[in-house]
Amino acid sequence: MKTIMIANQKGGVGKTTTAAALGLGLNKRGFRVLLVDTDPQGNLSSSLGIDPDSACGLFELLNGDNGIKDCICSSFAGDVIPCSIMLADADRRLTQPYAYSILDEKLGDICNDYDYCIIDAPPSLGILSMNGFSTAQYLIVPVNASAFSLQGLSSLFSIISAVREKGKHEIKILGILITRFNSKTRLSKEVLAVLENTAHQAGTRVFDAKIRQGVSIEMAQARREDLYEFRSGSKPADDYSRFTEEVLELIS
Ligand SMILES: Nc1ncnc2c1ncn2[C@@H]1O[C@H](COP(=O)(O)OP(=O)(O)OP(=O)(O)O)[C@@H](O)[C@H]1O
Ligand SMILES: [Mg+2]
Repeated sequence: MKTIMIANQKGGVGKTTTAAALGLGLNKRGFRVLLVDTDPQGNLSSSLGIDPDSACGLFELLNGDNGIKDCICSSFAGDVIPCSIMLADADRRLTQPYAYSILDEKLGDICNDYDYCIIDAPPSLGILSMNGFSTAQYLIVPVNASAFSLQGLSSLFSIISAVREKGKHEIKILGILITRFNSKTRLSKEVLAVLENTAHQAGTRVFDAKIRQGVSIEMAQARREDLYEFRSGSKPADDYSRFTEEVLELIS
């Protein structure tokens, strides 16, 4: 099982949208996919039709209340370890030594059942994102094509360096993914140039696929439907399809 975390502590940059679209894209190509919702907001779980308030999910898994198989639901994008209501209190409750590496240990039990595990990170750096960093082999960093897109990237990259030094596994930054891209605006072009430079310095790349803005994203999420079928041929669906292919070329 290859584990890919979608992370950026900046909020609203397209992490959840990317996690769902990549998971679904891989699922449609015949891969066995497990999605993990580590964000107490539960947006990934909701967009896949799972109610975070009633689910037995990530908190119960990390807290040792339930075995991993009891914490997995199925969805149209593949299997999911959903957000559950107690996740909001995880930073206060999961304080034991090595609490940051529980997810890694638990995923070890099912690593032969899936080809890809996609982790949606919260917009914060606490025990939940640390559990993601401690197990992920690959990191994808979505950024909005906005003037503030660089904010937080350097601290994210320093955390990755610290994880690399302390952790028992290598974590590779697979690339920066530009979301809400509009190739016609000067701002998008300028942001792209700066991000390419930043990516180069961090030893990674900006993905060739850029995700254009489109209303179909929010509409599919609100209706809890498959983006690729909801409006097939929409700009974001085409872009996420190209992005999925690019990810496969890089890591398969
Ligand atoms: N390409 C796009 N075109 C239009 N809207 C988009 C696009 N990508 C994401 N959105 C919308 O932008 C909002 C933020 O996206 P998303 O929830 O994926 O970001 P996030 O980084 O996970 O946010 P958070 O930090 O709160 O977890 C959502 O309402 C989503 O529907
Ligand atoms: Mg999110």
